[in-house]
Order: sequence, then structure tokens, then C-alpha cells
Amino acid sequence: MIAEGQPERPLPQILVLDAGGQYCHLIARKVRELGVYSEVRPSEIPAAEVASVKGLIISGGPNSVYDPGSPTVDPGIFSRGLPVLGICYGQQLMAYVLGGSVRKGEKGEYGLATLDLDCTSDPLFSGLGGPQQIWMSHRDVVAEVPEGFSVVGRTATCAVAAVAAPRRKLYGVQFHPEVVQTTRGRELLANFVFRICCAQPDWDPSHRAPILEEEIRRSVGNRKVFFFVSGGVDSTVAFTLCTRALGEDRVRGVYVDTGLMRAGETEFVSQMKGVSVEHAQQHFLEALAGVTDPEEKRHIIGEQFVRVQEQVIEARRLLDEDWILGQGTIYPDTIESGGTAKASLIKTHHNRVAGIHKLITAGRIVEPLTSLYKDEVRELGREIGLPAELLDRHPFPGPGLAIRCLCSEFDAPLRWTPDGWIIPVHSVGVQGDERSYAPVLAIEQFDHATATNLINRLTGVNRVIAKIQATKPLAKLEVRACSLTPERVERLRAADAIVRRLSHASGFDHRIWQFPVVLIPLGTAAAPESIVLRPVDSVDGMTAQSVTMPSALLEEICGELLAQDGISGVFYDLTHKPPGTIEWE
Ligand code: XMP
Repeated sequence: MIAEGQPERPLPQILVLDAGGQYCHLIARKVRELGVYSEVRPSEIPAAEVASVKGLIISGGPNSVYDPGSPTVDPGIFSRGLPVLGICYGQQLMAYVLGGSVRKGEKGEYGLATLDLDCTSDPLFSGLGGPQQIWMSHRDVVAEVPEGFSVVGRTATCAVAAVAAPRRKLYGVQFHPEVVQTTRGRELLANFVFRICCAQPDWDPSHRAPILEEEIRRSVGNRKVFFFVSGGVDSTVAFTLCTRALGEDRVRGVYVDTGLMRAGETEFVSQMKGVSVEHAQQHFLEALAGVTDPEEKRHIIGEQFVRVQEQVIEARRLLDEDWILGQGTIYPDTIESGGTAKASLIKTHHNRVAGIHKLITAGRIVEPLTSLYKDEVRELGREIGLPAELLDRHPFPGPGLAIRCLCSEFDAPLRWTPDGWIIPVHSVGVQGDERSYAPVLAIEQFDHATATNLINRLTGVNRVIAKIQATKPLAKLEVRACSLTPERVERLRAADAIVRRLSHASGFDHRIWQFPVVLIPLGTAAAPESIVLRPVDSVDGMTAQSVTMPSALLEEICGELLAQDGISGVFYDLTHKPPGTIEWE
């Protein structure tokens, strides 16, 4: 298990210095995928301690380099002839520490962009010159490069998108080579690792199960594991690994019906071997009554899970034995919950609330997947022989429909602007590695490019949705105050079941990564809600693209949704991640 800050092994060949970025851990993973072992360390690690490594990569991060207290590095790392690659904030930090300057850009640059890279003979960029797709998430830019550096790449928005000081083996890129949307990012990282750092292959990413099972046996010792399963990929893979490692007698699976699950889910999971169902709908829904704030919803749900665990242990008289809790937490759950030293809190995943932290501190939790991303978990599932129908299920969040049932504290009218209607329903987003919580812009055009331009230009909104169909003009709709009620959850469950059935029948669900269906309190007195469709494509959930669905399917979905009681409109989320997260919250 590769955990951040694990001290016992000698330093790996390539070290990633954590400046707080959402994609920091992903960089280390991408290097490992190249066959070279890599780990993450705090950015401030003293230069003397990294003398043995072959290269350093400084990650992105949510801060501005000139803010007091923002992450920094020991300047000594730049003067030892050691190759260093700065990514995003990492590039800005390198420029700043070495005497260049950084300033706030005129506008942000979030999502896809075109990089114009010079055709240099430098080994980092060799063979990569010319225009190419990259992925950006920043507002700050390098204004002046330090002495000895030259600018080798730029975009329409960012004049300093790639810099090089080859004689000193120092490089920087404003874009993110570690995310899949940067089409040649893997080649760039490979050039850095092999051509600049001269690292040697020392890691095989395709045989992880035996290592993880050994780690489970070590951390569980003689105890038994009480495992929360949800029927999703992560918890099923983690549960199966624990069972393989410890034997069926020592692992018990419990599925909690929170009342926030999709239609048919409880029936599906109750067929799983070794899993029993705990009905706790009333507890969860009562605890959520009157709540509108998204983080509060998540905390309540997480704490209810802890309570259910305590009740089950007590009711089944397991107290006399030493039980610990098992969870299928994966890496993005931790990073988005602000769980690494410097990362910004985007949203608290249900498996990262205070009650769970207490168990972690007490050493009473086993989470075999905490260093993996979703696609790695699927690969691992294949390695241990789980069926494809299970591994290919779309991800579904632990807090369930609660985070797709949007609430509002106030009654509020829509506001017209030259760009479209501002809908005063707030949703969570992630911009420049930081959380945002802002209203939505509704436009009439179904056009992703328009939506991306609007998001980059406007402040004060973090999502753009297209109106597909509504029973009234938008000027006649309003947002009303409402919280999470059983009736609203039921309405969402019915809408979700319609969308799921039709997208499955058309085969569309196989072409996408996930398809949240979101209920927003926008409508008329007679039909107070609207539905937002959010089909996305992704590899690991850390970044995602909004996907266009076939128009015949969209028409069919709209027809069925608008025939439901209480629904006034159907909208389509055109926002990529970032700046919008996949879930609305
Ligand atoms: P966001 O909304 O952050 O979601 O872009 C990224 C992926 O994570 C899923 N998600 C969760 N999964 N517990 C989970 O098990 C959670 O609390 C949670 N929140 C979001 C989300 O559905 C998407 O696939």
C-alpha cells in the first residue's frame, strides 16, 4: 500500500512534492504507471534529504505563491543539478523562488486549451512540438521567467505555459500533464522520468492484490472486520480483498438502507454473499429533516453511518470480540475531503467525518484502497476475478440521492443577465484546486464551447446548464425554500429510475462514466421542481467531461420526466470538472 508520508522505505527515484493540489497524488500514480516507483512528500522537505532521488516534481496547489504562508520549497533543490519539473502552482513557485514574477491572470483558464509548443531539441519536449490539447486549471500566471529560463509554450490565454532551463535541468508547465485530457501528458512525463532524470524501471502496477492482502493481514492482526458495503465497485472490491486475506469467518458485510439509495439497489445488494441488510431509512431521513446546507448533509449522513455501526455491533452482541470497521475509501475521497496536509476541502465524503477520524486515530479502521483511484480499483477487481457486470457499474456516492437533491434556504426569483438566467440554486465546484459554492447560469443554447467560455469569463457562477424543455418560460419559474424531505427524495428516485432505464435500453450508459440526475427546487407552485441531467465521461472522477447524448434519447427522457408529477423543466449540465464537480451537492 502506498500511503503518503510512509517513512520506512528508502526514497524512491522520483519524488512528488505536495503543494496542496487536487492532482498531486495522481502525478505519483502516473509515474508509477510508467514503471518507476514514486511517492508524495510535503513540498518543504529539506534539499539535503532528497540528495538520493533522481528527480523531483512539484505539484499544483490552491494558493497563490505570494500569499503569506502558502506552500513553498527549499530553494536548495534548484541548485544541485537535480532535475525538477514544476506543474501549475509548481511552475509558478519555481519561477517565484528563482527571481521571476507571478501575477493574477486577466481571466481564469479552466478545462481544455490548446498549447502551442515550440519544436525544441530539448529532451523534455522532444517530439512533442506543435499545437496540442492540454488541460488547465489556474488563474495565476508567470509574468516574468527567471534568468536562464526560456518560454517554450503558450496558449491563447496564458503566455507562459511551458518554460525550460535545460542546462540546470529545471522545467515548468502551467498545464497538467498528469490528467488524461492532456493528450500527450504521458509522453511528457515519460521524457522527464527517463530522459531527464534517467530513472530505471522498478515497479509493476498489474499485480497489486497480494501486496494489499498482506497489508490487510498486517493491519487487522487477530481482529475481525465489520464492513460497510454499498453494492458499488469500491466497497465490493475492498470487502472481497478482506475476505480473501482474512477468511469469510472474520469479515462481516453490512449494507445500510439509508432511504437515500436508488430504486432496486437494496434488492440487488441483498443477494451478495456474506452481506446482511440493515434498514435505517427512518434514522437518516429524520436526521436530515430541515437541512439545506450541503456539508451539513454530508456530516449528518457520515455520523449516522457511525451510529448504525455502533447499533449493529451492540444488537448482534459483537462487543465481546475485537471488531474494527472496514471501508472502501479510495484516494479521491480523502483528497476532496481536504485530507492531505494542504489540500482544500472540496466536499466531506461520508467516510471521512469526525466519527470515522476517531476510529482511524484509534487504529480501528481498515481501508485497503486508500491510495487507489476508481479505474485502478476496477483493474484490481478484475485481478481478483470479480464479474464485469459489477465492476462496470457506474459509481454511486455513499451519501446517495441526498447530494443530488438540491435545497434552498430562501424563496428567490431568477435574475436575467445578458448571458442568460442566473438560477439562485447553489452547487459545489472546484476551481484552481479550491472549492466553490455558487449559483448556476441557465442558457438556451446546447453548446459546450459557449458554456466553457462563459465559465472562464464570469465570476459568481460555477456551472452552466442548457434548458432542454420546460412547461413555462424561465421568467415564470422561481426557486423556493425547501430542504431534504422524503417526498423530494422519492421524486428524485423516480426520475433517476426513468433516466437509468432509458439510458440503459439505448446503450448510452456504456458510453459514459456516470450519470447523476439532479433535482433542483425550480418550478411553479403546481410543479415546484426541475431535473438536471449530468452525464459525464471520466477515467478517475478527478476530472470529467460533460457528454452530449443522442437527441432521440434526450427527447424520450424529457417526455417521461415532464409527465411526472411536480416537474416543471428539464436541463442539461454543460459544465466540465473543473470547474463543476460531478455531483451538485
Ligand atoms: P465529485 O462530485 O467530487 O465526484 O466530482 C467525484 C466522484 O466521486 C463520487 N462521490 C462520492 N463517492 N462517497 C463516495 O463513495 C462520497 O461521499 C462521494 N462524493 C462524490 C461521485 O459520485 C463521483 O463519481
